[in-house]
Parts: sequence; C-alpha cells; structure tokens
Amino acid sequence: MHLNITVLPGDGIGPEVTRQGVRILRAVSDLGGHDFHFHEAAIGGAAIERFRSPLPPQTLDACLESDAVLLGAVGAPRYDNMPAATRPEAGLLTLRRALGGFANLRPAISHPAIAACSPLQRSVVEGADVLVVRELLGGLYFGEPRELGSTSARNTMAYSEPEVERVAHVAFKQARKRRCLVTSVDKANVLETSQLWRQVVTRVGREYHDVRLEHLYVDACAMHLMMDPRRFDVILTENLFGDILSDEAAVITGSLGMLPSATIGGDVDLYEPVHGSAPDLAGQGIANPLGAIWSAALLLRHTAKLESEAADIESAMWEVLQDGHFTRDLQRNRQGKTVSTSEMGDLVEQAAGDWLSRRHAFHAV
Ligand code: IPM
Ligand code: MN
Repeated sequence: MHLNITVLPGDGIGPEVTRQGVRILRAVSDLGGHDFHFHEAAIGGAAIERFRSPLPPQTLDACLESDAVLLGAVGAPRYDNMPAATRPEAGLLTLRRALGGFANLRPAISHPAIAACSPLQRSVVEGADVLVVRELLGGLYFGEPRELGSTSARNTMAYSEPEVERVAHVAFKQARKRRCLVTSVDKANVLETSQLWRQVVTRVGREYHDVRLEHLYVDACAMHLMMDPRRFDVILTENLFGDILSDEAAVITGSLGMLPSATIGGDVDLYEPVHGSAPDLAGQGIANPLGAIWSAALLLRHTAKLESEAADIESAMWEVLQDGHFTRDLQRNRQGKTVSTSEMGDLVEQAAGDWLSRRHAFHAV
C-alpha cells in the first residue's frame, strides 16, 4: 500500500515523540512490504521562528496533498502573551479547519498493565475503556464574532444542525463497534446550543436501534468520569467540553502521555497525541511517546485500513507496559524500570515486529 504522510513535529516534546511514531510506521511499512512516504514540515512556534507564521503556506499545501498528517504538539511559553491569532495554537486550529476533519476520536483505556498508574483506585479504573468523540470544528473555538477589547472580550458559541448531525453519526458508528452506548454530553439546562445539540443527537440516535443513547450535563459527566469511568463507552460532545473531558479522562490512564487522537471525516485525516508540547519535559528524553505511537496506529486503522497492523501495535504497547517498562510519567505506584522516550520506542518496535511476523507466519502456513 502506498501512503503519503506529512509529519509535523512542532514544539516542545513534539519532535521527540513524533520520531517514535514515525519509526513504528516505518517498521510496519518495511515488514508488510508497504510504501509509506514521509515528508516533514514546520508548524507552531517552530514555524514562527523559521517562517514567521505558525502555519506557513508550504506546510498547509503539503498537508492538503497527503493521505494523512501526523502531528506532535504546538505551543511554547514565549508566545503566552501574543494575540490568539498569531500564537502557535492558531497554526493548529487553521490546519484542523483546512483539513476538514470534524470528528476527533480520543480513546482512554485503563488496561490492567497501567491500572496501578492512575491516582484513582485500581478497583475504580481497571478495565475502563472510554472513547471521547469531540466535535472539532465548531463551538467557541471558531465562533464569530470574537474579540478582545481593553475592558471586555467575547467569544461566540454556535452550532448548526448539520454540524451536530455529522459528528453524531460518527459517535453512533463507533459505539456499534464497541459496547453500544453513547453518552451525549451538553449543558442543555443553560445553553441554547446544547438544546439544539440534544435534539439533533436524539433524532440521529433513532437511526441506531442497537445503540443506547443517554444525555448527561457536562458537570455531572466530569464527576461520573472520576467516580465510575467504567460506566462509559462513547462520550459524544462539543469542542470545548471535549477538550476538557479528554484531559480529565487521561487521569483514568495515569498520564496525559497515554492519549492518542484521530481526526476523521474531512479531506485529510489528522493524527496527534492529546498531550501538549510540555516545554518542561522537552529535550530530556523523558517524554512518553505512547500517545504519538498510538496515534500512528490509529492512522493505520482509519486511513490505511490496516486494522490488524494497528491492533498489533496496540498489543505491543500493552505488552511492553505489562512487562514493567514505563516512562517517568507512568512510574507512580509502580515497580518496574523507567525507560527513556527512545527506549520505549525501541521496545514497542521490537514487540510490534514480533506480533506482525507471528501474523505473517500464521498466514504463510
Ligand atoms: C488539544 C489541545 C488543543 C485544543 C490546543 C493546543 C489548541 O489542547 O488538542 O486538546 O485545545 O484543541
Ligand atoms: Mn486539550
């Protein structure tokens, strides 16, 4: 299979973790006789430094011409006081819009191998498997008008029926492949956008008889997610609620470094770990590359349709963790060996290679 992938390392730990994601994809490509082509381009603060723009035109063009984009992270403290429109984050938001992916899938799993890593009790989190489906192109992130005056400021939260409909379909279809429960999260007791959200999701839900639909207010959802994460299957929610709830869901896994994401539904799919640029960890070789590696696996699943290869990488990750190898972020409450970013990449590549060659051997018999 031929695949053109644009790689956007970005800022902070972005380059270190992305390198590990790319090497896993190369390994899969070599072992399976595929032809994956990688093209690196600049985004975020790194692009501002070199091209005076957080999303230079050549980066956007490269992304639009590729089959998928793998991104590290954007953001750096030195831009903290810059206007929103010229910050590194603006590069990512413009890119998301341009690529058109409106459904952002963020799985958070408390596999037994990491169940002791969460600050929550093992008996509460072990086996939790939540998929946050976050609407990515609407809501407060993009609503107009928006302005910052000297004594007042405003943002606009707006949703249209088609925007809610299309992401709802993605959530119900995902639920069908899982445990057939969609929890739609809103603030319909206060917000008109949420009332529309609830109506539209309810209507879309009628097309999926086999999937159960429930509605929760976002504040209650935030609490239930910590009290009893296993009660959730798919959480469907708007942009900002999804941003917040996915970071919260990371607590179930023990580290924000564990969360990958896939953005689908547009012209070009976008894959990025959920963690940010983590400037305090950058350049030390201590960042957790599993969010990026898992994002690469999601690329294989959703864009390349290489389901078994994706599943093999996921198995490899869990196996390495089960064997007691953890990056520093996951070390809490664990005995085991602390490994560096690249050592974690080595281990997963090795284990994934084993899984993949076992599969090839099986098919050869
Ligand atoms: C995320 C990040 C981004 C977002 C930032 C970097 C713009 O927090 O992907 O969750 O808010 O969407
Ligand atoms: Mn976020």
